[in-house]
Amino acid sequence: MKITDTVSVQIKDRVALITIENPPVNALNHNVRSGVKKALELVMIDDLVSSIALNCSGKTFCAGADIKEFGAPMQEPVHSQLHDVMDGVDKPLIAVIHGTALGGGLELALCCHYRVAISTAKLGLPEVQLGILPGAGGTQRLPRLVGPKIALDMVVSGTPIGAVEALDYGLIDKLVDSDLLSSAFLFAKEKGLSRDKPIRVRDRSDKLKLVDHGIFRDTRELISRRARGFIAPEYNIRCIEAAVNKSFDEGLSIESDLVMELMRGDQARAQQYFFFAERQASKIEGLDKEIKHRPISSVGVIGGGLMGGGISMSIANVGIPVTIVETSQKALEKGLETIRKNYESTAKKGRITVDIANERCKLIQGSLKLGDLNDCDLIIEAVFEEMSVKKDIFSRLDSIAKPGAILASNTSALDLNEIASATKRPESVIGLHFFSPANIMKLLEVVRGKNTSDDVIATCMSFAKRISKVPVLVGVCPGFVGNRILHYRQVQANQLALEGVPIQQIDRVLYQFGFPMGPFQMGDLAGLDLGWNAEKSNPSDIRDCLCGLGRFGQKSGNGFYDYEGRKPIHSEIVSEVIRDCGRLQGIEPRNSSDSEILERCLLPMINEGAKILGEGIASRASDIDVVYVYGYGWPRYRGGPMHYANCLGLKNVIEKLLHYREITGDEFWTPCQFLVDLAERQGIFT
Ligand code: 3HC
Repeated sequence: MKITDTVSVQIKDRVALITIENPPVNALNHNVRSGVKKALELVMIDDLVSSIALNCSGKTFCAGADIKEFGAPMQEPVHSQLHDVMDGVDKPLIAVIHGTALGGGLELALCCHYRVAISTAKLGLPEVQLGILPGAGGTQRLPRLVGPKIALDMVVSGTPIGAVEALDYGLIDKLVDSDLLSSAFLFAKEKGLSRDKPIRVRDRSDKLKLVDHGIFRDTRELISRRARGFIAPEYNIRCIEAAVNKSFDEGLSIESDLVMELMRGDQARAQQYFFFAERQASKIEGLDKEIKHRPISSVGVIGGGLMGGGISMSIANVGIPVTIVETSQKALEKGLETIRKNYESTAKKGRITVDIANERCKLIQGSLKLGDLNDCDLIIEAVFEEMSVKKDIFSRLDSIAKPGAILASNTSALDLNEIASATKRPESVIGLHFFSPANIMKLLEVVRGKNTSDDVIATCMSFAKRISKVPVLVGVCPGFVGNRILHYRQVQANQLALEGVPIQQIDRVLYQFGFPMGPFQMGDLAGLDLGWNAEKSNPSDIRDCLCGLGRFGQKSGNGFYDYEGRKPIHSEIVSEVIRDCGRLQGIEPRNSSDSEILERCLLPMINEGAKILGEGIASRASDIDVVYVYGYGWPRYRGGPMHYANCLGLKNVIEKLLHYREITGDEFWTPCQFLVDLAERQGIFT
């Protein structure tokens, strides 16, 4: 029987099976909530029903509240009204879980008396990643089943757990390997026949008594390092504390107040915006969804250095064999040894088993012959940034690679079209710009050349996901999206330093904004000698001077800073170098406040982002935000540079750019036409 568009009920052998069907992820929108409520109200008073099973159709149980409904008043019945009805059901109520039970989905299952899951299912409360907390009773019911320590870990990290673990913790009551629905049906039938009164999760409290109060202090200490700047983790902790220290109803009321407060805040808005931005990035306008992808089952990587090694690891991690080609035996051995050590260290930390580490190492083979890549489906060139070298490699690849192979360059700034011109198959050439360390960083800029074919783009976008990267399609220009925008921040950071602002102050301001580190520390980490040419060294350029002194950054033990281990220490030599460069460039010393430093570093990024949009190098403002959050550590709770600009208001951004142009007399600050037009037309980036 259909209850609403998305909810139906079937009764068989005294079991009422309520099914939610709201593809793609059975989000609990208004229609679903009201359907489930109505269905329950019907079957709870039906004498022919002894137990009730709650099931979802499609690939998953339920991914939680419908995030698209956030930001407007929620239509009744709201989650808590539905849960009140569930709390009033005195017949055994069983959740039947496959795929993922997340957020409001798991909260729905927690309002059932029992949970039966298939062994591949995942269960979690990921609300913290959306800047909120499980505000439909999740923080009060979960600890009653799994204990406060596990509940705390789950809500603060937002990471789902597998069904096997969930059974261990007491989150589910029965685990099955196959035939979930028939097993759950039998389970429900048995419970219906039993005379035992089913116990609601809210009425359980035995596990709450086991609490060691140190867990709250330890978790706070952990999040101060791992989630610096994020507000939601602390609010999640407070809710679990309430579960332990207060009655269920008091806890529920605290949870409700705290979630409302978070929902009204900027962080939740930014994190929820980012959820959709990330998903949007993989959708390419104009690309036929049915386009045939090229198969990728073996990959060649040219260059076994830091970048090539990291790229190879990302690929081997998902079971795809990789052949690394190097120019000398020594370089090859060094590269393979670094990879082996990386895997060993991951295994030592307990993140993978030793067997898995060995398997992954075996998947990565080395060679000194480019010809050994003749059978690869995808070949990624990751040698140093020199156009002539890259062109030579691509022209050789053209005669070696099999027809249909994709030829990719990991260039971070060079002209992909020129690289492609070295081949007779520019349609098969694409840029795959990984970020260092490539085995860890999530971002992949997929660079579309003027001739790159649609099937190559589609294949690379989905390949990126297969190797757990977040792909963003960008066009060809120097530095593509990420590095091109970053350059403008660096110009201002240098200018501020030349005006006499201590580099520590500049780094601190950007760190406090939420970046993992400021521009000078980042320079030291990346290496100051990237692109440095001793013969063309400019005596008034800070970087050139530091490199001239052998200060190449962390790798040489000093750069903008001296280092004690990894800790940056002020260097008087560097201060002198900067002062001399400032004098040689005739720059007047000038004090800047923290807010001026922030504006001068961030506004040029926004302006350049707007130019990039105007030129079509990125197709959406949100794509730029995805690049920045995943590639450059822009704090997710600020959404990315373009979302941040929207929060400031584009007219304010323009006013401030003009203000700096006026006080510096520098055309650098001129707002680009695209930004001006957009501010006039609609006021925000979309
Ligand atoms: N609300 C609305 N839309 C959602 C959604 C949700 N909760 N979860 C996923 N979607 C949408 C996605 O936007 C995407 O839409 P699109 O096709 O138009 O881009 C589509 O569903 C498929 O999602 P994915 O591309 O992410 O598919 P995957 O198969 O890779 O992943 C998933 C599936 C693991 C369920 C993943 O989508 C996910 O993690 N979803 C969010 C889960 C979540 O955060 N739940 C908590 C919500 S807040 C809440 O429940 C509050 C509660 O306390 C009251």
